Amino acid sequence: MTDKLIIFDTTLRDGEQSPGASMTKDEKLRIARQLERLKVNVIEAGFAASSNGDFEAVRAIAQAIKDSTVCSLARANDRDISRAAEALKGGNSTRIHLFLATSALHMEKKLRMTPDQVFEQARLSTRFARNLTEDVEFSPEDGYRSDPDFLCRVLEAVIDAGATTLNIPDTVGYAIPELYGNFIRNLRERIPNSDKAIWSVHCHNDLGMAVANSLAGVKIGGARQVECTINGLGERAGNCALEEIVMAVRTRKDYFGLSLDIDASQIVPASRLVSQTTGFVVQPNKAVVGANAFAHASGIHQDGVLKARDTYEIMRAEDVGWTANKIVLGKLSGRNAFKQRLHELGIEMESEAEINAAFAKFKELADRKSDIFDEDILALVMDESVTT
Ligand code: KIV
Ligand code: ZN
Repeated sequence: MTDKLIIFDTTLRDGEQSPGASMTKDEKLRIARQLERLKVNVIEAGFAASSNGDFEAVRAIAQAIKDSTVCSLARANDRDISRAAEALKGGNSTRIHLFLATSALHMEKKLRMTPDQVFEQARLSTRFARNLTEDVEFSPEDGYRSDPDFLCRVLEAVIDAGATTLNIPDTVGYAIPELYGNFIRNLRERIPNSDKAIWSVHCHNDLGMAVANSLAGVKIGGARQVECTINGLGERAGNCALEEIVMAVRTRKDYFGLSLDIDASQIVPASRLVSQTTGFVVQPNKAVVGANAFAHASGIHQDGVLKARDTYEIMRAEDVGWTANKIVLGKLSGRNAFKQRLHELGIEMESEAEINAAFAKFKELADRKSDIFDEDILALVMDESVTT
């Protein structure tokens, strides 16, 4: 088993399923570029068959992104899979992610299918997808609430049909860390060909345990891919938060013993970009990316940190992209300071001309407004005429 943990970001797909978080193609593309800078291994760009807009977003992201694998979700049917393959066509490295519910509840009440029909559909659709691409992920939706015997049967068949990643979703956030970890370990031990695929965890946060469950899936279950979103964005109470899982694995390398490709210094810019784009404010006491995550207010703590930072800090703010730089932008600020702040906010412009245009707008604003906040700068550059 490898000691590398694959980070699969689904901000643009599961994150977007959060009510009120829908994003335009250009917004998604901007976030995808930041995720690439963050060096996530896989970007789930959307659900190509769900709408023309999502199809176009997946297509644009697959064309633009070179260093991360770009993935589209698809229901386990030929139409969805073909649509995903079409949107991903020409991408540097691409993946199709199939899902089909396997819990008794979902099969009977939602799909109105028998277990045998679900088994057959899972097998055939995986084979269909595998004929279109080398990289196929299969998710048994509501996997954690599925009967383990049935799940073993389905998972063994989809591995034989060519699935390269098996993802076990805790779709409704019902799991408990130890139980979820053991659930995955048990599946891996029982399925004869289990080591032919990478095992993945996908946890929702309904009971506030998405990160803990994902970590247990990795440590106890042996999963080597975690599905997560920036700021834990996602349906209902959200998904496993990328910044938390990454910093837990990194800070406690002594315990997990896993390596990551992530450039942690891009975490805070990614968090701010997603927050600004979706309008979902990050709570101040949110781990890693909250405004107070590295603030020390009490006298005793301040004294301790001034004497030795390790007394009350287990991570460095600057390692995750917080800047100690307190330069206040205003009408006297120069182009370099403006450019640096854009970088800190996760905005990289393609050309000098774009920077000049944005800088001119900034100067115009600074003449009218004495205090320029980060939100003003983000709002200014979100204007489509300035950057894509
Ligand atoms: O939560 C879930 O089950 C999902 C699947 C589509 C992977 O998001
Ligand atoms: Zn999900």
